[in-house]
Amino acid sequence: MNVAFIYVERMPTKIILDCDPGHDDAIALLLAHGSPDIDLLAVTTVMGNQTLDKVTRNALSIARVAGITGIPFAAGCTRPLVRQIETAASIHGESGLDGPVLPEPLIQLDQRHAVDVIIDLVMSHDPGEITLVPTGALTNIALAVRKEPRIVERVKEIVLMGGGYHVGNWSATAEFNIVIDPEAAHIVFNEKWPLTMIGLDLTHQALATPAVADRVAEVGTAPARFVGELLDFFASTYKESQGFEHPPVHDPCAVAYVIDPSIITVRRAPLDVELTGTLTLGMTVADFRSPAPADCTTQVATDLDHERFWALVIDALERIGDPAS
Ligand code: BDR
Ligand code: CA
Repeated sequence: MNVAFIYVERMPTKIILDCDPGHDDAIALLLAHGSPDIDLLAVTTVMGNQTLDKVTRNALSIARVAGITGIPFAAGCTRPLVRQIETAASIHGESGLDGPVLPEPLIQLDQRHAVDVIIDLVMSHDPGEITLVPTGALTNIALAVRKEPRIVERVKEIVLMGGGYHVGNWSATAEFNIVIDPEAAHIVFNEKWPLTMIGLDLTHQALATPAVADRVAEVGTAPARFVGELLDFFASTYKESQGFEHPPVHDPCAVAYVIDPSIITVRRAPLDVELTGTLTLGMTVADFRSPAPADCTTQVATDLDHERFWALVIDALERIGDPAS
């Protein structure tokens, strides 16, 4: 009997990373760039961990460290939709990326607003081609969907870092990315697109233990040393301000889910964002009553395979190697 093997090549998933670098955003960017399963189409920035000018400059510096060229980097919103800007200097420092020396950027910022880059890319690709990966406040995504509502049916899915169904970090009940612009999050969570919330319940499992830091150091390249320095700084602020023994590295978890969904367990549940609570402003509320409604398009991440997650990060760093600077 002749058995024919058909080799089906897996196409990398096209993503737009909307971020506010930020130590963990930086690692998310390196993971996206280094993974053979991701086609990084653009990087867009939003205020959050620091002001927009700082996080945008950080993104361009990371591009130099990682050797990323040939894709647009575009700056987005300077403040939340309704509220005043609130930054996370207590976690990410004055620059938003304290710790390593940040190299002078080599690439130029795209002159378009991030919202227009997101719309242009989604509308010029086939429906179902592009996954949006927000790892900061949802301000850019909310404005994009208000400006061009047709992106809802064209986006493949949204995989975001934000929220938490039973834990907060910026208040007792709310997570930073959501609570700094809850109105934007409310818009994004209430559109009918497939949305996966990679919240604190999941990312608090993505701890950068000393064993993880050792594996990063063993890679031995300049980008790996950069990650090591990021983790050192992140570890110290997470210990001081949040009492963590080892820092939770949130944002790469969203990229990792796009690369290999089997490393993260998810549960389907309707999600919404609290806008009026006095103790619960910005809380992401998951309705776990069973069965989930047939038209539910949202899900939350519950469990992480820690070993395989960090293996993806190490693999990406090894593939990036030592880019010529
Ligand atoms: C989120 O907040 C930011 O400080 C991090 O970059 C991450 O996206 C965690 O709550
Ligand atoms: Ca972030």
